[in-house]
Formats: sequence, C-alpha cells, structure tokens
Amino acid sequence: MSDHGSEANALTPAAPGIDVSDAGGLPLVRARWEAKRGSALQQLFFALYEHDARAPAAWARLTAQLQSLARAREPALTALDQARATRPDWFMGPDMLGYLAYADRFAGGFNGVGAQLDWLQQLGVRYLHLLPFTRPRVGDNDGGFAVADYDDVDPRLGTVADLCALTAKLRAASISLGSDLVLNHTADDHVWARAAKAGDPHYRDFYLLFPDRTGPNQYEPDLPQIFPITAPGNFTWVDAVQAWVWTTFYPYQWDLNWANPHVFVAMAEVLMRAANRGVEVFRLDSTAFLWKRAGTRSMNQPEVHHILRALRLLMEVFAPGVLLKAEAIVPMRELPPYFGDAEIGRRECHLAYHSSLMAAAWVSLSRGDALMLQRVLADTPALPADCSWLTYVRCHDDIGWSVLRREADLEPAIDLAQVSAFYAGRHPESFAEGEAFQTDGAGVHGSNGMTAALSGVTAAERAGDARALAVACDRVLLMYGLMLSVGGLPMLYMGDEIGLGNDVSYQEDPERQHEGRWLHRPLMPWAYARALPEGSAAAQIRAGLTALIRARQHLPALHASFPCQLLDLGASVLAYTRGTDVLVVLNFAPTPVEIHLPMKGAWRDVITNRLLQHRFELPAWSQYWLVRA
Ligand code: GLC
Repeated sequence: MSDHGSEANALTPAAPGIDVSDAGGLPLVRARWEAKRGSALQQLFFALYEHDARAPAAWARLTAQLQSLARAREPALTALDQARATRPDWFMGPDMLGYLAYADRFAGGFNGVGAQLDWLQQLGVRYLHLLPFTRPRVGDNDGGFAVADYDDVDPRLGTVADLCALTAKLRAASISLGSDLVLNHTADDHVWARAAKAGDPHYRDFYLLFPDRTGPNQYEPDLPQIFPITAPGNFTWVDAVQAWVWTTFYPYQWDLNWANPHVFVAMAEVLMRAANRGVEVFRLDSTAFLWKRAGTRSMNQPEVHHILRALRLLMEVFAPGVLLKAEAIVPMRELPPYFGDAEIGRRECHLAYHSSLMAAAWVSLSRGDALMLQRVLADTPALPADCSWLTYVRCHDDIGWSVLRREADLEPAIDLAQVSAFYAGRHPESFAEGEAFQTDGAGVHGSNGMTAALSGVTAAERAGDARALAVACDRVLLMYGLMLSVGGLPMLYMGDEIGLGNDVSYQEDPERQHEGRWLHRPLMPWAYARALPEGSAAAQIRAGLTALIRARQHLPALHASFPCQLLDLGASVLAYTRGTDVLVVLNFAPTPVEIHLPMKGAWRDVITNRLLQHRFELPAWSQYWLVRA
C-alpha cells in the first residue's frame, strides 16, 4: 500500500484562527477521527484505490467535505450520535418496529406523512422507511430508484424544507427516518450522466461505458437478469455517449463505476448531506452489484465489502447515530459478510434484509408445511454484536424465489415453480390472488401481490365466505407473527395493517402497466382505515397485529440479540425458542396439529393468555407465543 501520510492531518486540531466554538459537530468528528477511525478509513480508501492516480485528490476532497459537513451538523443530530454511541443496540429491542411506505401512496407527501404520525404511533412504529423521495428521473423511474438528484427531493412530495421539518417531527416522536441510498446507479438524466453525455471525461468515467461489444460480450454470459422480460441484458447502447452503458436494471439506470475514487467520494458526500437532513437509517440499495469482475456474476465481490467497510468507518466518524442497512437480495449463505467481522474491527452494515426467510415463509404458506422455513432458519447464523436482521413479510418489490434455489434442491425437493403458480392463482388448491413477475409461463422469478391478497383474504371476501375469511386473516397474522418473533427488526408494509388488497389500476395505466410491482403499491384509503367496519377482515387484522406488537414489546427475550433455536415438532410446525424464556410455535398446515413439547410443565400463550400443558392442539394456521405459566 502506498504511503499517503501527508493527507492524514486533514482533520487534526484546527489551525489558529479557525473558530471552533461555532463548529457544530466538528470537535466530535475530530475526536472520533483521532480515535483511529480516520486512519483506518484512510488505509482502506488507499488500499481500494491503490493504483489510481486520482486517489489523493479524491481523498483530499473527502476530508474537506467531512469537515465542512461536520460543522453544519445540527446539535440535535450530534446529540443523537452521542447518545447512540453509548447504546449501540438501540435499534434491536422488542420495542422497535419498522414501517415501509411510499410517501405519496401513504399520505401525499412529506407534510401528509407528518399529519398521519398518530397512525404510526398507535401501531408502535419507531422506524419509518419512506421509499425513494429524492428527485427522480423525468418519466419512467423504477418507483423512484432512478435518481436524478440525490440532494433534491421529488417536487410532488414537497420541498427540502418540508423533508427537514418531517425528520424533526419524527425525531421528536422517537421515530427514525430511513431513506434509500441508491448506490449502484443513477438515472440517465442525473447531472453526472448529463455531463457524460456532453463528453466530459471526468464524468464519463463515473459510469461503465464500452465503445463496442467486446466488453459487454465478456461480462454478459455470467451476469444475472434482474428484469428478464422488461429489461433483458445488462448493457444498453446510448447514442449520446456513443457507448454501451452498463445498466443492470432498467436501461435508464446507469451503473456507477465504483472503481473510480471520485465516485466513492461523490456518494460519500451524498450520504453525509442526507444524514445532516436527519435521515437516520440508510438502505443501501442493490449493494451486491457495486463491483464488477469479468468471469463472475459481478455480485458480492470482495471490493463491495471494502466499500461498505469504508462507508461504515466514515459514518462512525461523521454520524455514529446513523444505521446502514444492506439490501443484498442474495442467497442466505452470501449474506453474513454484509455485516462484516466485528471481532477484527471490520464492521459493515448494522442491518440486512433476511429475504430468504421472507420468501421461505411464503413457500411454507403455500405448501402447508414448514419445511422451507426450517431449512432457512437452520442455516441462519448468529450475527455479530450490535447487528440485526431486518424481517419482513412484504415490501414494494416482488417476492424473489431465486434466493431459495439451494434450499429447494435439498431432499425432499421443493418445486418453486409450483409455489410461483400458486401465488399467480394457477394452482387448484390456491387461495392466493397474485401475479407472477418477470416470467411468462413456467419460469420462476418472482411473485407480486399484497399480503392480504396472497393469503386469501381478498378471495374469501369476494366469495362472502366468513369461515374462509377468518382463516385467511389467521394466515396474515401467522406471517407477521413469525417476523415479529423470530429475531430482528420487523417491518410492516403499508396497508398490511388493515389487510389492504391489490391495486390493479396499474394494468390500465400506460405509464405503469409494464411494471407488475405496482400491483402491491396501493394508495392508503384513509377514510376507510380510520373507521374500519366492525367485524371486517381489516378490523380483525388490525386488532390481531396490534396484539402481536404489544405482546412483543413486553418480551425482553425478543431483543434481536437473543438466539433463535429451532425445535423439531414435525414438518407442519415451525417452533423455536428465543433466549430461555419464550417458545414460539407456528402451524403452517391447513389442519390442526397435536403438539408434544419436550419441555414439561405449564405454559401461557401471551397473546390469548390461554394456559396450556406440554401437550395441546394447535389450530390450522395459528400460533402461540409461550412463556412459563
Ligand atoms: C432495489 C429496489 C428495487 C429497484 C432496484 C433497482 O432492489 O428495491 O425496487 O428496482 O433496487 O434500483
């Protein structure tokens, strides 16, 4: 590694003449820098960009920006940084609950979200992830994931001042705002892309451009297809740059060239500026794809972890109250590195989506057995200290089945094509009303639909079948009961709390009809939500979910750090202990199951308060959260 010691003193105590009294968070940042994290960051940066002549200039810019943004960091935020430094597990307790929504679909915009705060508070929400609210590309924009300006907001949602007012309001209510940080690509109308189109060599090198097919042909055979139907291939010819542009997702989403140190610094600045606006959690979008390597899938490359470690160190210096959350939708075995290795001081993300668990739960619900869940949980490792899974039932994306390929191939094999057909309603036993995503016919890619629609609520409602409806509500609660008890930070997806069904309006909308994920991005029907008809499925789900959330809040053993130990109670049932105090049993079968617990004595289900012995019957699709009576 080269010696770049001369840049090391960029953050050393202020030279005489600099007014430290008016320095915002700078003194704290300087102290953290000196406590070695600064030099660790520097080492990492120069290891990553070892042979790049641009690295020293990029580094100088980073340290200068770090100082000026530290100066600008508000006292309320530096106070949060300080408080969390002494409680690094602040996001792991049983009182933490996440909520995921598009600001416009939820409440029109930033001010609207602020006006519905009581809704979130009544649910017990402590973390609100608003899907991309940065200024998106004009026209089609992948639900906001094609960002035209990271420092501006979508004008439909409000202004930057409205955003800052919202973060302050949320903070006062002990709700942390989460934001996507779309790291892998920008929109093709981002100012960097526009500069590249104008021929600026500095910005051409922000992207991965190939003058002819030689490069693309070298990479393409090994690369996955994210949207094989609507955006096949990973490269797009763009006249304006006279090149094939690397576009992993849609053709208008240009992959960034993270091998360029200026890209690292530009994104680091974006991260710090957003943190200064009060964003407390960053969802690092599509993290697995940041580094490309010929002959590989160009996912999960070692340099990706290098980058994440560097971003973590940067935030430990700049804003240690902020969390990093990995969105790496990869098989279970490839996930643990995204947390880093705390023992050797190599931390990466605090949180990562447990997408295998989410998809496995849907497999189990469709099959009426817990086999897939048992396989996934048996393989789920304990996490490093102060790290947690993010558990969820649904989100704005499809349920991607490919993360489960290995588990599906174990004996007895589980047919994912059948599962996909089940959720598309193409299966004789299906209770689900969903749609297959990015596949025509027999292929297996993903499934779309809201929880209630996939669990049979909407079909039963339409049929006017009260018994089927009650059972379907139990399925919704079973899915959420799992995610609330298994260990991690659980997320509610907007609308699920009232069993909202699919939104098929996208099929008639020329701007959205090519994108099936709009099926599960409905508008929040406030008039209905605020006055749920008594006895309706919506009211049952809302009440059932509230009971689960309240029960969770009172069980210290559901803190994310307590181990989850599987118990074998047969194929239909998923059973695990959390710590030494709590035993959860969930029946995925459509019939009641006789349970014989290996631990004798009396138990109490904390949700219903029912007393049970070690032998009892567990009704179809139901759950008990047991503690010693
Ligand atoms: C993430 C988002 C998804 C988006 C993709 C590309 O996976 O969750 O909605 O399409 O990134 O940005």
